[in-house]
Amino acid sequence: MWKLLFISLTIMYIGECSPHDKHHTRWTGTTNDIITLKPHHKMHGPPDHKKLVAMARYVLHNVDWASIASISVLPAIEGFPFSNVKSVVDGSMANSTGIPYFYMSPLDFTARDLAKNSRSTVLVSLEETRYCENQNFDPEDPRCTRLMLSGKMKKVKEGTPEYVFAKAALFERHPAMANFPPDHNWFIAKMKIAQIAMVDWFGGAKYVPVKDYLAYNYTGNEMLDYHNRLHYNLDKA
Ligand SMILES: *[C@@H]1O[C@H](CO)[C@@H](O)[C@H](O)[C@H]1NC(C)=O
Ligand SMILES: *[C@@H]1O[C@H](CO)[C@@H](O)[C@H](O)[C@H]1NC(C)=O
Repeated sequence: MWKLLFISLTIMYIGECSPHDKHHTRWTGTTNDIITLKPHHKMHGPPDHKKLVAMARYVLHNVDWASIASISVLPAIEGFPFSNVKSVVDGSMANSTGIPYFYMSPLDFTARDLAKNSRSTVLVSLEETRYCENQNFDPEDPRCTRLMLSGKMKKVKEGTPEYVFAKAALFERHPAMANFPPDHNWFIAKMKIAQIAMVDWFGGAKYVPVKDYLAYNYTGNEMLDYHNRLHYNLDKA
């Protein structure tokens, strides 16, 4: 009886682990870490699905990469939509802005497309966290919230405070960027968001007002906690 209860509690507990545990197990390579996570990490799941602005900001802040669509300049598919993967941040772990920032090289498909036509759509999904999998939601389940941000992409001017902030934020979340080939003329791009479409729960598409989205004071510190926990655990190991 007790054994059964223990097993079911364990299963429930694993089921409620935060999205970041995916990274956690990947990086440390052991499943024991899931069990040793403290219960407060349960708080780190997505917000109430009815809170559209909070949900939109949560999803972008808690993903590490985006699918980025542009209008292709490749000769065989000129004018076709073309999609790529880019690492993304919306600010530092401690300071979310809601604006997607990317580290780009003019050698890449996307930057070439954007140089001709800066219109783009960026897709991010809770599927990137472990949330949907833990809830047994298919990636297309509307409860597996996804955001489609559309707008024009702009270069962030080098040397500005925003550039310094965005670059530090990108390198903080994606340390591998520090070792990207130095001769690729890396620059930082951001989206000036024109529309935020979201599939969030049942009942059709939702549109989040851009102004409310940008003005929202996102104080979730799950990324920062996750990062600190990772380092704390590694230091202890
Ligand atoms: C967070 O980032 C914004 C946008 O760059 C900046 O205006 C603000 O001062 C930052 N806040 C903190 C606490 O770093
Ligand atoms: C955002 O919320 C935090 C915590 O409640 C608060 O300390 C901070 O001043 C707020 N920032 C803005 C710009 O309202």
